[in-house]
Amino acid sequence: MQKKARRRKRPAPCRSIEIIIEGLGARGDGVARDDDGRPVHVPGALPGEKWRADLAGGKVLRAEMLRSSPLRRAPFCPHYQGCGGCRAQHLAEDFYGEWKRDMVRQALSRAGLAMVDVAPLYRLRGEGAGRRRVEWALLRDRAGQVKLGYRQRGSHHVVDIGECAIVEADIAALIAPLKGLAAALLQPGEQGGCRITLSDSGTDLLLKLPRLPDLEERERLTAFARARDCARLCVQTGAEMPETVLQQRQPLVRFCGVAVPIPPDCFLQASRAADRVLAELAGLSSAGGREGTMAADLFSGVGTFSFALHRAGARVLACEADEAAVAAMQAGINRAQLGNIAVSRRDLFRQPLLVDELNRFSCVLFDPPRAGAREQVETLAASKVAEVIAISCNPASFARDMAILVGGGYRLERVVPVDQFPYSRHVEVVARLSRGA
Ligand SMILES: C[S@@+](CC[C@H](N)C(=O)[O-])C[C@H]1O[C@@H](n2cnc3c(N)ncnc32)[C@H](O)[C@@H]1O
Repeated sequence: MQKKARRRKRPAPCRSIEIIIEGLGARGDGVARDDDGRPVHVPGALPGEKWRADLAGGKVLRAEMLRSSPLRRAPFCPHYQGCGGCRAQHLAEDFYGEWKRDMVRQALSRAGLAMVDVAPLYRLRGEGAGRRRVEWALLRDRAGQVKLGYRQRGSHHVVDIGECAIVEADIAALIAPLKGLAAALLQPGEQGGCRITLSDSGTDLLLKLPRLPDLEERERLTAFARARDCARLCVQTGAEMPETVLQQRQPLVRFCGVAVPIPPDCFLQASRAADRVLAELAGLSSAGGREGTMAADLFSGVGTFSFALHRAGARVLACEADEAAVAAMQAGINRAQLGNIAVSRRDLFRQPLLVDELNRFSCVLFDPPRAGAREQVETLAASKVAEVIAISCNPASFARDMAILVGGGYRLERVVPVDQFPYSRHVEVVARLSRGA
């Protein structure tokens, strides 16, 4: 049989239009309309600005600003133009706060909760407000040059950075040394990555490599970790478990004074300030405020909120699916010899706490992954739990979960957006719900 000749797709014709930006999209792009009323997304543009855009098939190929907005300010980072990291640096302070608040308002409105009042964006400031966790890509190009940084927006291209303003200083200080290390570990054309966590007992470094290091490379890694006094250095290839190359000290993170020995690559809130502020906004800042009550912390990780609930005097059950996180939290409980706090390994998507189990608690806190906690909130909505605290990094799944709880008779009392990921398009939310007696 004769094969049909494949027709080449004709490139969409290019046209140039002048547009006025009407608003900001969820990714921080300026949004305008073309002559036919179709939305046009212009990266880096702000409401009220006039731009000329070259369009092909609805996509902006090139854009040039013709008139700027008073809502614009100069980005503080020299890598702003290329780097996909902090895309919202050009927004003036107040406008930036309203943009993030509005993301939460709009998500609630789409879920049928337009009447809910959303508090102004809570900004993290001061000591410990920089990121304590970061993941950077590593690449040695064909010419042998090493690049370290975030991926360019919408592409796999690695934007090489020399500094990063959003991480803690101890992380930023590793940029140049890590490039030197990568030059010795990667062959031209090879890629890897690094995840850095600042624990309270030192840096926990996980290197993602295309293959396991040989003896000589292990010696180099060990020397690197010793020279920078890293608490631990692990390597990982593909989806394999991380392998520890050197551990000088157990990486520990303290939650309300309880030292938890964290596993490599575990979930932590992005900054130390976030641990404190999120607990405060959840109503868990005071010691003893919940004496003798029963509380559940669902999707508990290594115990960020469990230990805050425990310090407030509650008897706590923590539930979490990740084996290493559960073991770490248990080790923290054992080391501190705490009573009245237990952790259970449980997949809450497949096996949510049932209504009878939930009814033992006067307070349930949940902090799920981006997908939200649909299965769990469905049983929660049918429970008698008096107080529910929701923490989320995704306004869309948060709003959906709130609608289920409100449908079950809960009152959504307080919604506070928190700027846990400054200058990115991400926003954290803390909410409190109650059920009348
Ligand atoms: C956003 S993190 C919150 C962790 C913790 N609350 C904290 O603040 O450190 C979400 C947690 O949910 C856990 N998780 C993901 N899927 C889960 C599931 N199906 N059942 C239970 N836990 C799950 C993850 O392992 C992670 O620890």
